[in-house]
Amino acid sequence: MNGNTSSKINETVSWVGKWTFVLAAAGSAVGLGNIWGFPYKAGTEGGGAFVLIYLLCILAVGLPIMMAEIMIGRRARKSPVNAMKTAAIDSGQTGKWQAVGWGGLISGILILSFYSVIAGICLNYIIIAAFPTPDISSLEQFNIVTASPSRLLFWHSIFIALNIIIISAGVIGGIERMVRLLMPMLFILMMVMVINAMINGDFARGLNFLFAPDFSEVDATTFLRAMGQAFFSLSLGMGSIMCYGSYMPQEENIFKTSLTVAGLDTLIAILAGLAIFPIIFAYGLEPGAGPGLVFVSLLSAFVDMPLGNIIGPAFFALLSIAALSSAISLLEPSVAYFEEEKIVSRFSAALTLGLFAWVIGIGSVLSFNDWSDISFIGDLNFLDSIDYLANQFLMPIGGMMVAIFAGWFLKPDLALDEFSGIHLAIFKIWRFFIKFISPVLVAAVFIYQLVS
Ligand code: PHE
Repeated sequence: MNGNTSSKINETVSWVGKWTFVLAAAGSAVGLGNIWGFPYKAGTEGGGAFVLIYLLCILAVGLPIMMAEIMIGRRARKSPVNAMKTAAIDSGQTGKWQAVGWGGLISGILILSFYSVIAGICLNYIIIAAFPTPDISSLEQFNIVTASPSRLLFWHSIFIALNIIIISAGVIGGIERMVRLLMPMLFILMMVMVINAMINGDFARGLNFLFAPDFSEVDATTFLRAMGQAFFSLSLGMGSIMCYGSYMPQEENIFKTSLTVAGLDTLIAILAGLAIFPIIFAYGLEPGAGPGLVFVSLLSAFVDMPLGNIIGPAFFALLSIAALSSAISLLEPSVAYFEEEKIVSRFSAALTLGLFAWVIGIGSVLSFNDWSDISFIGDLNFLDSIDYLANQFLMPIGGMMVAIFAGWFLKPDLALDEFSGIHLAIFKIWRFFIKFISPVLVAAVFIYQLVS
């Protein structure tokens, strides 16, 4: 529709469509974290109380850091490594702040490596849900899938290949084109799933479970889990949002777009809960089933449901689409850096970095079977170790450093300048949060995770 709102500044790339930043950032944010992670965490952490605390974390920590990332990225119009460096040098600080960008690139590749293995399982489940094997329970089915390294490797390879193809096609020809196609599909499929839950599920009980807060279940862990989830879900602390922000046209308002992205991310997580829990309750399944909630519990419901062999594949297609639009944002920051520094072409960068993530991912493939007894960090297997390293270590530190930098080291005038169009009162509130609230809360999570 909106063909030509783009402008080329210093030969840097800008999203073409007015809504592309929102679609791309929401595409990054909405992923396995929302549709697979959020419902099972809400399920195990006491429903509505978790949802409420999660919303608080989004507002107090997520939103201010998201605004800071977009602002730093768009100011420099460079990949996160160079965007951090530019912002630091322009504020009279050391260029070593670029280390925050480097940390982001590393977490992006690490997350992609296991994200792709789980996304591969989602792809495989599109077929499994369409043609369920008779006489096999959904738990047995999950065990068959995960016991086979070659099967997991096959789907992991397909998923990484899709990422390489999209990223090589460029920011506009690849990412923008894909999110404009995928995001509306995702939304429509989500609505279909919620309507399905209204027809085939116990909707009232699902609503009650998600929204009636049960504070007896709440302790320090709930708060910290909710914070970690908010971080991962909004794709913060590792450069994805900063990188997408660097393609944002100058005239867009950073506050409004951040609010929209955070709102869409939360909406989709809640809709995912509304699509899943009514079905879980109607079929007498356990809401606190944990990570197997969608693959084991939900599959068994689809098998018994009228039109389940259509609804089931649609659900796993939804999950795969969400995962794909997130995964491309994990690869883009490092590819953008390689291209910007003219180290190699975009295609070679996408291929090399994608293959790198693919190789590390083999460890996660084996974590489900041959290596399931081998511990890496503490008693965690390979997949859980990488997950732990990236999500509970690199991302919170990255986010906290962005907050500390934006609150304490970046010249306020530079931020104010980039936030043009934002009400002064909102700017002041942002400054207060990014200085005092967000870094302290993230530090609390971080310290807690280290000592627990
Ligand atoms: N936000 C994505 C999700 O919820 C995961 C992600 C994290 C994507 C970090 C990009 C960067 O699944």
